[in-house]
This record gives sequence, structure tokens and C-alpha cells, in this order.
Amino acid sequence: MTTQEIKKGLAGVVADYTAISKVNPETNSLLYYGYPVHELAEHCTFEEVAYLLWHGELPDKSGAEEFRLGCMNNRDIDEELIQVINYLPKDCHPMDVLRTAVSFLGTRDEYKFTPDADHIRKIGTELLAKLPTIVATDIRRRQGKGYIAPSKDKGFSENFLWMVFGDEEGSPATIPSDIEAFEKTMILYAEHSFNASTFTARTVTSTQSDAWSAITAAIGALKGPLHGGANEFVMHHMKEIDDPANAEQWCLNKLKNKELVMGFGHRVYKKGDSRVPTMEAAFKKLAAEHKDQGAEKWVEIYDIMAKTMYENTSINIRPNLDFPSGPSYYILGFDIEFFTPLFVMSRITGWTAHIIEQYENNSLIRPLSAYNGPEERHLDGTYQPQ
Ligand code: COA
Repeated sequence: MTTQEIKKGLAGVVADYTAISKVNPETNSLLYYGYPVHELAEHCTFEEVAYLLWHGELPDKSGAEEFRLGCMNNRDIDEELIQVINYLPKDCHPMDVLRTAVSFLGTRDEYKFTPDADHIRKIGTELLAKLPTIVATDIRRRQGKGYIAPSKDKGFSENFLWMVFGDEEGSPATIPSDIEAFEKTMILYAEHSFNASTFTARTVTSTQSDAWSAITAAIGALKGPLHGGANEFVMHHMKEIDDPANAEQWCLNKLKNKELVMGFGHRVYKKGDSRVPTMEAAFKKLAAEHKDQGAEKWVEIYDIMAKTMYENTSINIRPNLDFPSGPSYYILGFDIEFFTPLFVMSRITGWTAHIIEQYENNSLIRPLSAYNGPEERHLDGTYQPQ
């Protein structure tokens, strides 16, 4: 075997240019087309951020209105898709439902796929609008509840929370600060350069396949616990800890056993995830507002885990975005297995932007491998299968 330098996991490899977002691990910053993500989370709606990612500029007033209406008018899903969802087992992972639903929609692309940016944006708009309806339908059917059709006037997050929880008293859809916290998670999860699912989408696109296939594959990549699935595991960890008094020892045991603590560490950020301060503040505010339901316990566990992990690892490991967003979704009332589908509802914006960018300057993505199997050998003509 020849010795070649292997970049395991492609770590440190710069695979291409992108104008969509800039992750700077040195300054802990994340920019979407030049804008710091925390400023976008403070001043923009999620739909305005989606527009930015798909057009490179924030919309003016009429552009924002046109985009908002385009999304709103695409929210309905038809009876056939509802039947497909209902046909799937209620105990399968909701990411499987989402992957299947997107694949199903892809069989009906009435315009037939063409790789021009307008067509890809049209697919992106359809999914940005319909994914919340699909997720809400799946949540409610598992709870034995009826379908709530999407609203024709509510904003993205309010409409989604309403389709999931209805509008009875205490529903997050009726609490402006809950809607605001949810919207922040959508903006923060929207885009993050060449992460595994985005790179998957770009790889599929690089073969000149269609955008539906690229997005279906990206959903599969996001499902894994080392990527989007981490937000679910964060909450499983916190529930297992349950009492703040157990949190420190729980983390120390994990570290001693060399087990991963989900929601910590990052392939790019080694000094802290740029999105965490904004989401941590939103999580703590949300917990304070849901104090009467005992939500502040999760903040106590959060703080002890963050401190213990930082102080007891040689690399001073810090939380990533999944660490504050997992318990935030839990406080809002989502079942844990739905946390990653919520991430998909946001990341569809980044994936769409990258599919457009990949098509605009495409080159087949196809790395090399170093062979470490047996030396060349030959059949001597006597081989018989047993
Ligand atoms: N818990 C415990 N230890 C961790 C850890 C975690 N979450 N993340 C990294 N480490 C350890 C590694 O095991 C490694 O230890 P070693 O040197 O003894 O082998 C050391 O820290 C350095 O890891 P690093 O090289 O920085 O990680 P990576 O770049 O290969 O992996 C992740 C990055 C995200 C895959 C990894 O941190 C991880 O699995 N985190 C948990 C999953 C998660 O939260 N994913 C969401 C990412 S946004």
C-alpha cells in the first residue's frame, strides 16, 4: 500500500467556493451573504432570511410581500399526500416520513426538473411552504388528532405552531414570545456552509440529478445523530439526567467512558459555535416564561453540563446550536423525535441555495480513495461456490 495523506472525513479540505455563508471559527462568526446571523435573528423574519439565501440580498417591501404570499399560497398539501403520510407506520422515525413525502412530491414536479435557478427556487418555495404542513400532519396523526389546514394569513412560525397545537389557551401559537423563540431557531438553523447534509445535496446535484433527489438525500444525511439528529439526543440526555444534582456526575461518567455528549463539539468551531449565544438567550427567556411548568430545571441542567464539559476536557469543549435548541423545542411542547424534522423545515433554505450555486458552476464531486484491501490475486479456474 502506498502512503498517501488521507483527509479522514474530509476534515480541513476546502472543496469549493461558496458565497452563501461564511463560517469563521477564529472570530466565532457566521455570516449569511455578509450579514451576521445574530443580527438577522434580531431584525428579520425567517422568510426574509430565506429570500436572502436564495437571492443574495434582503428583499425590499414589495419583494418581501410577494415572497410571503408565494409561500403562503403553497402551504396546502393534497389528499393524496395526506394518504401517503397516513399509510406510513406511526412508529417510524418522523424523518422517514419527511424523506418519503419529499420524494413523493418529486414524482409530481409538474414543470419537469430543469436546473435553472428560478425552477430550483420554485421547488424551494414549495417545500418551504409545505414541509411545516407535512410535519404538523404527522405530529397530529400520531397523537390521534385531526388535520388542521394551514392558515392563509399567519406568519411562518405562528402558522406552524397553530397547525400543530391549535389555538386553545396555552398553545404556543397564542404566545408571541413562543412564536418568536421558534422563529429564531428557524433563522439560526437555516444555513451553515458545507455541513454534511448540504454537501450531500451538492454531491447529488453535481451529478446533474434533480433538486428533489438532492433534498431527499440531504434529509437522510441530516437524520444522523452526529449531524441534525443531535438535538434529539440532547433532550434524551437531559431527561436521563432529570435532576440538576445529577448533571455533573453524568457528564463525568460519559467522559470517563469516552462516550459522546450530544450537543457539544463542532467540526469547524473549536472555540464555540457562533449561533449559541443568540439561541441560549432565547432558550433561557423561554424557560423563564414557562417557569410554572418547571422549565427552569432544564436551564440548571444546561448550565451545569456546559461548565462540566468545558472544565473537564482537554479541548475545553463547548455547546453547539443543538444544545440550547433541543430543550427549547421541548419546552414549546414538541415530541423529541420531531426535533430534527423542525431543523429540516429551516435548512431547506440553505440546501436550496446550495443546489442553485452548485448548478451555476458545476463540477462532478468525486474524490479518490486509497486502496487498503488484499494484493492483486487470481482465480485458478477451480473455484466452485460452496
Ligand atoms: N462529547 C465528548 N467528547 C467529544 C465530543 C462530545 N460531544 N465531541 C468531540 N469529543 C472529543 C472527541 O472524541 C475527541 O477526543 P479524542 O481526541 O480523545 O479522540 C476530541 O473531543 C476532539 O474531537 P474533534 O476532533 O474536535 O471532533 P470532530 O471534529 O471529529 O467531530 C463532532 C465533531 C460534531 C462530530 C463531534 O464533536 C460530535 O460527535 N459531537 C456530538 C454530536 C453533535 O452534537 N453533533 C452536532 C454538530 S453541530
